[in-house]
Amino acid sequence: MPGFEWIDEEEKNAVSSIFDNGGVLFAHGFDGMRNGVYHVREFEQAISVKFKVKHCQAVTSGTAATKVALKAVGVKPGDEVITQAFNFIATVEAILDCGATPIIANVDRSLNMNPSELASLVSPKTSAIVPVHMLGVPADMDPIMAFAKEKGLPVVEDNCESVGARYDGGYLGTIGEAGVFSFDHGKIIATGEGGMVLCNDHAVFKYANEYQDHGHENNPAFPRGLDTCSTPGFNYRMTEMQAAVGKVQLSKLDRMLEANEERYLALVDSMGESFDYRSIPQKSEIIHDCLIFFEKDEVLRKKLIDILGSEGFGTKNLPDAINWHCAAYWGHALSSEQVEHAQTTRNLLHTAIAIPIWKRKSVDDYKQLGKKLLKI
Ligand SMILES: Cc1ncc(COP(=O)(O)O)c(C=O)c1O
Repeated sequence: MPGFEWIDEEEKNAVSSIFDNGGVLFAHGFDGMRNGVYHVREFEQAISVKFKVKHCQAVTSGTAATKVALKAVGVKPGDEVITQAFNFIATVEAILDCGATPIIANVDRSLNMNPSELASLVSPKTSAIVPVHMLGVPADMDPIMAFAKEKGLPVVEDNCESVGARYDGGYLGTIGEAGVFSFDHGKIIATGEGGMVLCNDHAVFKYANEYQDHGHENNPAFPRGLDTCSTPGFNYRMTEMQAAVGKVQLSKLDRMLEANEERYLALVDSMGESFDYRSIPQKSEIIHDCLIFFEKDEVLRKKLIDILGSEGFGTKNLPDAINWHCAAYWGHALSSEQVEHAQTTRNLLHTAIAIPIWKRKSVDDYKQLGKKLLKI
Protein backbone atom coordinates (compact mmCIF):
# COMPACT_ATOMS: atom_id res chain seq x y z
CA MET A 1 0.00 0.00 0.00
CA PRO A 2 1.76 3.16 -1.12
CA GLY A 3 2.00 6.04 1.35
CA PHE A 4 0.54 8.48 -1.20
CA GLU A 5 -2.87 6.94 -0.50
CA TRP A 6 -2.58 8.22 3.10
CA ILE A 7 -1.70 11.83 2.36
CA ASP A 8 -4.13 14.24 4.04
CA GLU A 9 -4.22 17.56 5.90
CA GLU A 10 -1.37 16.45 8.20
CA GLU A 11 1.19 16.30 5.38
CA LYS A 12 -0.23 19.49 3.82
CA ASN A 13 0.08 21.37 7.14
CA ALA A 14 3.61 20.05 7.67
CA VAL A 15 4.72 21.46 4.29
CA SER A 16 2.88 24.70 4.85
CA SER A 17 4.58 25.19 8.24
CA ILE A 18 7.93 25.37 6.46
CA PHE A 19 6.99 28.81 5.16
CA ASP A 20 6.38 30.05 8.72
CA ASN A 21 9.84 28.89 9.78
CA GLY A 22 12.28 30.50 7.38
CA GLY A 23 11.01 29.07 4.08
CA VAL A 24 12.95 26.86 1.68
CA LEU A 25 16.10 26.54 3.78
CA PHE A 26 18.87 23.96 3.54
CA ALA A 27 18.73 21.10 6.07
CA HIS A 28 21.70 22.73 7.80
CA GLY A 29 22.48 26.22 9.07
CA PHE A 30 20.37 29.41 9.01
CA ASP A 31 19.87 28.88 12.73
CA GLY A 32 18.51 32.39 13.27
CA MET A 33 15.74 31.99 10.64
CA ARG A 34 14.21 28.57 11.33
CA ASN A 35 12.80 28.79 14.86
CA GLY A 36 14.70 25.67 15.84
CA VAL A 37 13.02 23.48 13.17
CA TYR A 38 15.30 21.00 11.36
CA HIS A 39 13.00 18.62 9.44
CA VAL A 40 15.70 16.51 7.75
CA ARG A 41 17.63 15.98 11.01
CA GLU A 42 14.36 15.11 12.81
CA PHE A 43 13.31 12.68 10.07
CA GLU A 44 16.71 10.91 10.28
CA GLN A 45 16.37 10.71 14.06
CA ALA A 46 12.82 9.34 13.83
CA ILE A 47 13.92 6.63 11.34
CA SER A 48 16.85 5.71 13.66
CA VAL A 49 14.49 5.26 16.60
CA LYS A 50 11.77 3.40 14.69
CA PHE A 51 14.12 0.96 12.96
CA LYS A 52 16.56 0.64 15.88
CA VAL A 53 19.67 1.63 13.95
CA LYS A 54 22.49 3.90 15.12
CA HIS A 55 22.87 6.17 12.08
CA CYS A 56 20.64 7.47 9.31
CA GLN A 57 21.57 9.75 6.43
CA ALA A 58 18.76 11.27 4.39
CA VAL A 59 19.39 11.74 0.66
CA THR A 60 17.47 12.68 -2.49
CA SER A 61 16.32 9.21 -3.62
CA GLY A 62 16.64 5.47 -3.11
CA THR A 63 18.96 5.34 -6.12
CA ALA A 64 21.21 7.98 -4.55
CA ALA A 65 21.05 6.14 -1.21
CA THR A 66 22.27 2.93 -2.89
CA LYS A 67 25.16 4.70 -4.57
CA VAL A 68 26.14 6.55 -1.38
CA ALA A 69 25.94 3.31 0.66
CA LEU A 70 28.03 1.37 -1.88
CA LYS A 71 30.73 4.04 -1.85
CA ALA A 72 30.56 4.22 1.94
CA VAL A 73 31.26 0.47 2.30
CA GLY A 74 34.24 0.84 -0.05
CA VAL A 75 33.06 -0.02 -3.58
CA LYS A 76 35.56 1.43 -6.08
CA PRO A 77 35.91 1.68 -9.87
CA GLY A 78 36.85 -1.70 -11.34
CA ASP A 79 35.13 -3.72 -8.59
CA GLU A 80 32.27 -6.16 -9.06
CA VAL A 81 29.06 -5.99 -7.02
CA ILE A 82 26.62 -8.90 -6.88
CA THR A 83 22.92 -8.07 -7.00
CA GLN A 84 19.84 -9.85 -8.34
CA ALA A 85 17.81 -10.27 -11.51
CA PHE A 86 14.36 -9.42 -10.09
CA ASN A 87 15.02 -5.89 -9.00
CA PHE A 88 14.46 -2.32 -10.11
CA ILE A 89 17.13 -1.04 -12.51
CA ALA A 90 18.19 1.60 -9.93
CA THR A 91 20.46 -0.89 -8.12
CA VAL A 92 22.34 -1.65 -11.33
CA GLU A 93 22.58 2.08 -12.12
CA ALA A 94 24.02 2.82 -8.68
CA ILE A 95 26.67 0.10 -9.12
CA LEU A 96 27.59 1.44 -12.57
CA ASP A 97 27.76 5.00 -11.20
CA CYS A 98 30.40 3.82 -8.70
CA GLY A 99 32.45 2.62 -11.70
CA ALA A 100 31.82 -1.01 -10.72
CA THR A 101 30.34 -3.91 -12.70
CA PRO A 102 26.98 -5.43 -11.69
CA ILE A 103 27.00 -9.23 -11.43
CA ILE A 104 23.52 -10.73 -11.53
CA ALA A 105 22.24 -13.56 -9.33
CA ASN A 106 18.94 -15.19 -10.18
CA VAL A 107 16.04 -15.19 -7.73
CA ASP A 108 14.36 -18.29 -6.33
CA ARG A 109 10.65 -18.87 -5.65
CA SER A 110 10.78 -16.27 -2.89
CA LEU A 111 11.51 -13.83 -5.77
CA ASN A 112 14.56 -12.64 -3.84
CA MET A 113 18.28 -13.43 -4.23
CA ASN A 114 19.02 -17.14 -4.55
CA PRO A 115 21.83 -17.55 -1.99
CA SER A 116 23.01 -20.77 -3.59
CA GLU A 117 24.22 -18.82 -6.67
CA LEU A 118 26.64 -16.62 -4.71
CA ALA A 119 29.53 -19.11 -4.68
CA SER A 120 29.63 -19.26 -8.49
CA LEU A 121 29.37 -15.47 -8.93
CA VAL A 122 31.97 -14.23 -6.45
CA SER A 123 35.43 -13.30 -7.77
CA PRO A 124 38.56 -11.58 -6.45
CA LYS A 125 37.02 -8.31 -7.77
CA THR A 126 33.79 -8.63 -5.74
CA SER A 127 33.55 -5.83 -3.18
CA ALA A 128 29.89 -5.99 -2.01
CA ILE A 129 26.65 -7.96 -2.19
CA VAL A 130 23.29 -6.20 -2.62
CA PRO A 131 20.28 -8.39 -1.85
CA VAL A 132 17.01 -6.62 -2.69
CA HIS A 133 13.94 -7.26 -0.53
CA MET A 134 11.32 -7.25 -3.27
CA LEU A 135 7.68 -6.31 -2.81
CA GLY A 136 7.35 -6.68 0.94
CA VAL A 137 9.21 -9.97 1.51
CA PRO A 138 12.67 -10.36 3.10
CA ALA A 139 15.55 -12.00 1.26
CA ASP A 140 16.83 -15.07 3.09
CA MET A 141 19.46 -13.12 5.02
CA ASP A 142 21.09 -15.90 7.09
CA PRO A 143 22.80 -17.70 4.18
CA ILE A 144 23.58 -14.38 2.44
CA MET A 145 25.19 -12.91 5.58
CA ALA A 146 27.06 -16.17 6.29
CA PHE A 147 28.49 -16.21 2.75
CA ALA A 148 29.45 -12.53 2.94
CA LYS A 149 31.14 -13.06 6.31
CA GLU A 150 33.10 -16.03 5.01
CA LYS A 151 34.36 -13.94 2.06
CA GLY A 152 34.85 -10.74 4.09
CA LEU A 153 32.34 -8.81 1.93
CA PRO A 154 29.97 -6.04 3.07
CA VAL A 155 26.25 -6.44 2.45
CA VAL A 156 24.15 -3.43 1.41
CA GLU A 157 20.45 -4.25 1.71
CA ASP A 158 18.27 -2.58 -0.88
CA ASN A 159 15.13 -2.21 1.21
CA CYS A 160 13.38 0.32 -0.99
CA GLU A 161 10.31 -1.91 -1.36
CA SER A 162 9.87 -3.55 2.06
CA VAL A 163 10.16 -0.82 4.69
CA GLY A 164 8.83 -2.20 7.99
CA ALA A 165 9.41 -5.90 7.20
CA ARG A 166 11.69 -7.93 9.49
CA TYR A 167 13.95 -10.96 9.36
CA ASP A 168 14.76 -12.88 12.52
CA GLY A 169 13.31 -9.99 14.52
CA GLY A 170 15.52 -7.29 12.94
CA TYR A 171 14.18 -4.62 10.59
CA LEU A 172 15.27 -5.01 6.98
CA GLY A 173 17.91 -2.45 6.14
CA THR A 174 19.62 -2.85 9.51
CA ILE A 175 21.07 -6.37 9.09
CA GLY A 176 23.91 -5.74 6.61
CA GLU A 177 26.70 -3.13 6.84
CA ALA A 178 24.26 -0.63 5.33
CA GLY A 179 20.64 -0.53 4.18
CA VAL A 180 18.73 1.82 1.92
CA PHE A 181 15.12 3.04 1.77
CA SER A 182 13.28 4.87 -1.00
CA PHE A 183 10.51 7.36 -0.36
CA ASP A 184 9.47 7.92 -3.98
CA HIS A 185 5.84 8.39 -4.96
CA GLY A 186 5.05 4.66 -5.12
CA LYS A 187 6.72 3.59 -1.88
CA ILE A 188 5.38 2.75 1.57
CA ILE A 189 6.60 6.06 3.01
CA ALA A 190 6.09 8.53 0.17
CA THR A 191 7.66 11.98 0.02
CA GLY A 192 7.60 12.38 -3.78
CA GLU A 193 11.31 11.64 -4.03
CA GLY A 194 13.72 10.79 -1.22
CA GLY A 195 15.93 8.11 0.28
CA MET A 196 17.77 7.08 3.43
CA VAL A 197 21.01 5.26 4.22
CA LEU A 198 20.90 3.26 7.48
CA CYS A 199 23.97 1.82 9.22
CA ASN A 200 25.44 1.01 12.62
CA ASP A 201 29.08 1.68 11.78
CA HIS A 202 30.24 5.23 12.42
CA ALA A 203 32.84 5.17 9.60
CA VAL A 204 30.17 4.15 7.04
CA PHE A 205 27.89 6.94 8.31
CA LYS A 206 30.70 9.51 8.27
CA TYR A 207 31.45 8.79 4.61
CA ALA A 208 27.75 8.85 3.64
CA ASN A 209 27.20 12.07 5.56
CA GLU A 210 30.13 13.84 3.91
CA TYR A 211 29.62 12.42 0.41
CA GLN A 212 25.98 13.54 0.10
CA ASP A 213 26.98 17.10 1.05
CA HIS A 214 29.95 17.98 -1.21
CA GLY A 215 32.42 16.43 1.25
CA HIS A 216 31.56 18.82 4.12
CA GLU A 217 32.91 17.50 7.44
CA ASN A 218 30.78 19.92 9.47
CA ASN A 219 33.85 20.62 11.57
CA PRO A 220 32.60 22.34 14.74
CA ALA A 221 35.79 24.42 14.90
CA PHE A 222 34.88 26.30 11.71
CA PRO A 223 31.92 28.15 10.23
CA ARG A 224 30.37 26.33 7.23
CA GLY A 225 32.08 28.62 4.73
CA LEU A 226 35.49 27.60 6.06
CA ASP A 227 34.57 23.96 6.75
CA THR A 228 37.18 21.22 6.31
CA CYS A 229 36.97 18.30 3.86
CA SER A 230 39.03 15.21 3.09
CA THR A 231 37.06 13.40 0.37
CA PRO A 232 35.25 14.66 -2.73
CA GLY A 233 31.48 14.42 -2.58
CA PHE A 234 28.34 15.34 -4.45
CA ASN A 235 24.99 16.95 -3.74
CA TYR A 236 22.41 14.35 -2.75
CA ARG A 237 20.88 16.42 0.07
CA MET A 238 17.25 15.88 1.02
CA THR A 239 15.05 18.98 1.17
CA GLU A 240 13.13 20.16 4.23
CA MET A 241 9.86 19.72 2.29
CA GLN A 242 10.54 16.02 1.69
CA ALA A 243 11.47 15.46 5.34
CA ALA A 244 8.43 17.35 6.68
CA VAL A 245 6.19 14.97 4.70
CA GLY A 246 8.35 11.97 5.64
CA LYS A 247 7.95 12.56 9.39
CA VAL A 248 4.15 12.52 9.08
CA GLN A 249 4.19 9.48 6.80
CA LEU A 250 6.44 7.59 9.23
CA SER A 251 3.97 8.29 12.05
CA LYS A 252 1.31 6.50 9.94
CA LEU A 253 3.47 3.46 9.06
CA ASP A 254 2.06 1.05 11.66
CA ARG A 255 -1.51 1.90 10.62
CA MET A 256 -0.62 1.43 6.94
CA LEU A 257 0.89 -1.98 7.62
CA GLU A 258 -2.15 -3.07 9.67
CA ALA A 259 -4.45 -2.02 6.82
CA ASN A 260 -2.24 -3.98 4.38
CA GLU A 261 -2.39 -7.11 6.51
CA GLU A 262 -6.17 -7.03 6.90
CA ARG A 263 -6.73 -6.84 3.15
CA TYR A 264 -4.02 -9.38 2.31
CA LEU A 265 -5.35 -11.95 4.78
CA ALA A 266 -8.91 -11.51 3.46
CA LEU A 267 -7.61 -12.10 -0.08
CA VAL A 268 -5.59 -15.22 0.80
CA ASP A 269 -8.49 -16.54 2.80
CA SER A 270 -10.90 -16.28 -0.13
CA MET A 271 -8.39 -17.51 -2.75
CA GLY A 272 -7.68 -20.61 -0.66
CA GLU A 273 -4.99 -23.21 -1.17
CA SER A 274 -5.34 -24.00 -4.85
CA PHE A 275 -2.93 -21.25 -5.96
CA ASP A 276 0.86 -21.70 -6.22
CA TYR A 277 1.98 -18.83 -3.96
CA ARG A 278 5.40 -17.14 -3.76
CA SER A 279 7.45 -18.79 -1.00
CA ILE A 280 8.33 -16.79 2.10
CA PRO A 281 11.73 -17.43 3.76
CA GLN A 282 11.65 -18.73 7.34
CA LYS A 283 12.14 -16.09 10.08
CA SER A 284 10.37 -13.49 7.88
CA GLU A 285 7.78 -10.94 8.95
CA ILE A 286 6.39 -9.62 5.68
CA ILE A 287 4.52 -6.33 5.16
CA HIS A 288 1.72 -7.70 2.94
CA ASP A 289 2.48 -5.22 0.16
CA CYS A 290 1.12 -7.55 -2.52
CA LEU A 291 0.20 -11.19 -2.94
CA ILE A 292 2.14 -13.03 -5.64
CA PHE A 293 1.39 -16.42 -7.15
CA PHE A 294 2.62 -18.42 -10.13
CA GLU A 295 0.45 -19.63 -13.02
CA LYS A 296 2.13 -21.48 -15.90
CA ASP A 297 -0.94 -21.99 -18.06
CA GLU A 298 -0.90 -19.00 -20.42
CA VAL A 299 -4.61 -18.97 -21.17
CA LEU A 300 -5.54 -19.11 -17.50
CA ARG A 301 -2.90 -16.55 -16.68
CA LYS A 302 -4.29 -14.08 -19.18
CA LYS A 303 -7.80 -14.52 -17.78
CA LEU A 304 -6.56 -13.85 -14.23
CA ILE A 305 -4.62 -10.75 -15.31
CA ASP A 306 -7.65 -9.47 -17.25
CA ILE A 307 -9.81 -9.71 -14.13
CA LEU A 308 -7.23 -7.81 -12.09
CA GLY A 309 -7.24 -5.11 -14.78
CA SER A 310 -11.00 -4.86 -15.23
CA GLU A 311 -11.61 -4.79 -11.45
CA GLY A 312 -9.13 -1.89 -11.07
CA PHE A 313 -6.41 -3.69 -9.08
CA GLY A 314 -3.69 -3.98 -11.76
CA THR A 315 -0.62 -6.16 -11.18
CA LYS A 316 2.00 -3.64 -9.98
CA ASN A 317 5.19 -4.79 -11.74
CA LEU A 318 4.35 -8.47 -12.38
CA PRO A 319 3.64 -8.34 -15.24
CA ASP A 320 2.61 -4.66 -15.66
CA ALA A 321 6.17 -3.22 -15.49
CA ILE A 322 8.26 -6.36 -15.91
CA ASN A 323 10.79 -4.82 -18.33
CA TRP A 324 11.98 -2.36 -15.67
CA HIS A 325 12.19 -5.06 -13.01
CA CYS A 326 14.04 -7.90 -14.70
CA ALA A 327 17.74 -7.84 -15.62
CA ALA A 328 17.07 -10.04 -18.67
CA TYR A 329 15.79 -6.82 -20.33
CA TRP A 330 18.75 -4.58 -19.46
CA GLY A 331 21.09 -5.13 -22.38
CA HIS A 332 21.77 -1.36 -22.39
CA ALA A 333 23.36 -1.60 -18.92
CA LEU A 334 24.67 -5.15 -18.53
CA SER A 335 27.00 -7.47 -20.44
CA SER A 336 25.37 -10.07 -22.68
CA GLU A 337 26.65 -12.74 -20.27
CA GLN A 338 24.71 -11.16 -17.36
CA VAL A 339 21.59 -10.71 -19.49
CA GLU A 340 21.79 -14.36 -20.55
CA HIS A 341 22.26 -15.52 -16.94
CA ALA A 342 19.11 -13.62 -15.93
CA GLN A 343 16.92 -15.69 -18.29
CA THR A 344 16.20 -18.13 -15.43
CA THR A 345 14.59 -15.28 -13.49
CA ARG A 346 12.81 -14.03 -16.60
CA ASN A 347 11.22 -17.44 -17.14
CA LEU A 348 10.05 -17.56 -13.53
CA LEU A 349 8.73 -13.98 -13.56
CA HIS A 350 6.73 -14.69 -16.72
CA THR A 351 4.61 -17.11 -14.70
CA ALA A 352 4.15 -14.70 -11.75
CA ILE A 353 1.16 -12.45 -11.05
CA ALA A 354 1.24 -9.77 -8.33
CA ILE A 355 -1.97 -8.54 -6.71
CA PRO A 356 -1.24 -5.15 -5.16
CA ILE A 357 -2.82 -4.19 -1.84
CA TRP A 358 -4.49 -0.78 -2.06
CA LYS A 359 -6.06 1.40 0.61
CA ARG A 360 -8.72 2.52 -1.89
CA LYS A 361 -9.91 -1.09 -2.10
CA SER A 362 -11.76 -2.37 0.98
CA VAL A 363 -11.30 -5.65 2.86
CA ASP A 364 -14.57 -6.76 1.26
CA ASP A 365 -13.26 -5.81 -2.22
CA TYR A 366 -10.36 -8.22 -1.61
CA LYS A 367 -12.72 -10.98 -0.42
CA GLN A 368 -14.83 -10.60 -3.57
CA LEU A 369 -11.72 -10.48 -5.78
CA GLY A 370 -10.44 -13.74 -4.28
CA LYS A 371 -13.77 -15.43 -5.05
CA LYS A 372 -13.71 -14.20 -8.66
CA LEU A 373 -10.14 -15.44 -9.21
CA LEU A 374 -11.02 -18.80 -7.69
CA LYS A 375 -13.88 -19.25 -10.16
CA ILE A 376 -11.57 -18.97 -13.22
C1 LIG B 1 14.20 -2.17 -5.39
C2 LIG B 1 14.39 -0.70 -5.66
N1 LIG B 1 15.60 -0.17 -5.52
C3 LIG B 1 15.81 1.14 -5.74
C4 LIG B 1 14.79 1.98 -6.13
C5 LIG B 1 15.09 3.41 -6.42
O1 LIG B 1 14.41 4.29 -5.59
P1 LIG B 1 14.14 5.79 -6.05
O2 LIG B 1 12.99 5.79 -7.02
O3 LIG B 1 13.81 6.50 -4.78
O4 LIG B 1 15.40 6.31 -6.66
C6 LIG B 1 13.51 1.46 -6.30
C7 LIG B 1 12.39 2.33 -6.75
O5 LIG B 1 11.52 1.95 -7.49
C8 LIG B 1 13.29 0.08 -6.06
O6 LIG B 1 12.08 -0.47 -6.21
